[in-house]
Amino acid sequence: MAVLRNDSAQAESLRTALARQLVAEGTIRDERVAAAFRAVPRHLFVPHAPLEIAYADDVVLMKRSKAGVVISSVSQPSIVALMIEQAAIRPGDRVLEIGSGGYNAALLRELAGPGGSVTTVDIDPEVTERARALLDLAGYADVRVVRADGEYGVPDEAPYDRIVVTVTAWDIATAWIDQLRPGGRIVVPLRVRGQTRSIAFDRVGGHLESRSTTLCGFVSMQGVGANYERLVPIAGDRLGLCFDEDQEIEAHPCDGVLAQPPEQVWSGVVVDREEPLLDLNLWLATTLPGYCVLSGELPGVAAPRAGAAAVATGDSVAYLCCRPLRRGPESFVELGFTGYGPDARDLIDRMIDQLRIWDVHHRRGPGPAFQVHVVGDELPPGFRIPRRNSHITVSWKG
Ligand SMILES: C[S@@+](CC[C@H](N)C(=O)[O-])C[C@H]1O[C@@H](n2cnc3c(N)ncnc32)[C@H](O)[C@@H]1O
Repeated sequence: MAVLRNDSAQAESLRTALARQLVAEGTIRDERVAAAFRAVPRHLFVPHAPLEIAYADDVVLMKRSKAGVVISSVSQPSIVALMIEQAAIRPGDRVLEIGSGGYNAALLRELAGPGGSVTTVDIDPEVTERARALLDLAGYADVRVVRADGEYGVPDEAPYDRIVVTVTAWDIATAWIDQLRPGGRIVVPLRVRGQTRSIAFDRVGGHLESRSTTLCGFVSMQGVGANYERLVPIAGDRLGLCFDEDQEIEAHPCDGVLAQPPEQVWSGVVVDREEPLLDLNLWLATTLPGYCVLSGELPGVAAPRAGAAAVATGDSVAYLCCRPLRRGPESFVELGFTGYGPDARDLIDRMIDQLRIWDVHHRRGPGPAFQVHVVGDELPPGFRIPRRNSHITVSWKG
């Protein structure tokens, strides 16, 4: 049955159900955030989507590039909720959103209240025109919509108490730190070594310190801050090794390395299939030279998983894999490593050592902490990731 767009009672009931679901799952913890989700009519921001889709916990794609890559979307409600919870918007806050769509800006407007303000900036004029029109339609005419490269923030409205970045960033732009009030908070989906985490940072003096992190996924930043991971093929166009821009690829195995006989070693470390191994991957990335991430997939049962942690030398590669337990719960697997090439065994031994350290000392710990300093600042101890504008330092407690 076709859904009538003007069926506002149905929209309200679906909206209430979505907010209730996000509260029940524990995604929304703050009643003010739940009230904002009940108030903002998401269906008005995705006019082409039926009501059931508009109020499903799913991303709604809005625009693709000529190459078919998604470059604009109205974000998934649960990701929006997690980031808004991280941002902890207070009544009266001045908020900057980077990456517009209208929906998130309207939620931020509800939370900042009459004494606060919301500015949203997008690089794409099609997006800002649509966001302007839809925000007006939904009753949020006082949200300021700006067309610009968000890399530079929006200086004439600064300083901000909160900045919420809704596009994947590889770096923290200097303008974002400069335009954030001391003690203010920026929430940003930061991509490091093949993983995107939404990180809430507080500004402490001239640098940023992380307060919380959560796994997320967003479209990639365009403009001056755009960045590309580099792919080294190791099995034609089916599988490659992915490196970040700051990683020096001194040597890598040649295409075809997987044709050699594999080495495989099991670690005895058991995990639930559902357990996110995000922190393990970052632990390996911060302790092992030659760290990279597998991209693509090979057919077959023993196929390496896309996104698996890997380590490469000039002629060898080893990567994380798993196998079902012979005895024990079905959802549990044992972690191990598969390697190819003359250094395979050495790479596997180094990865197993680090896996066991992570298992004993960090698996149930608070996870990594991140600090961001502008280039030229004195840097704290920890693993350093030099980006174009900033240094990201990763440190582990526990
Ligand atoms: C996931 S969408 C934003 C979703 C939105 N906040 C919402 O309410 O659902 C990401 C947006 O970031 C924009 N974007 C990409 N690079 C940008 C940049 N350098 N500056 C500002 N916006 C950018 C894209 O045009 C896209 O519209």
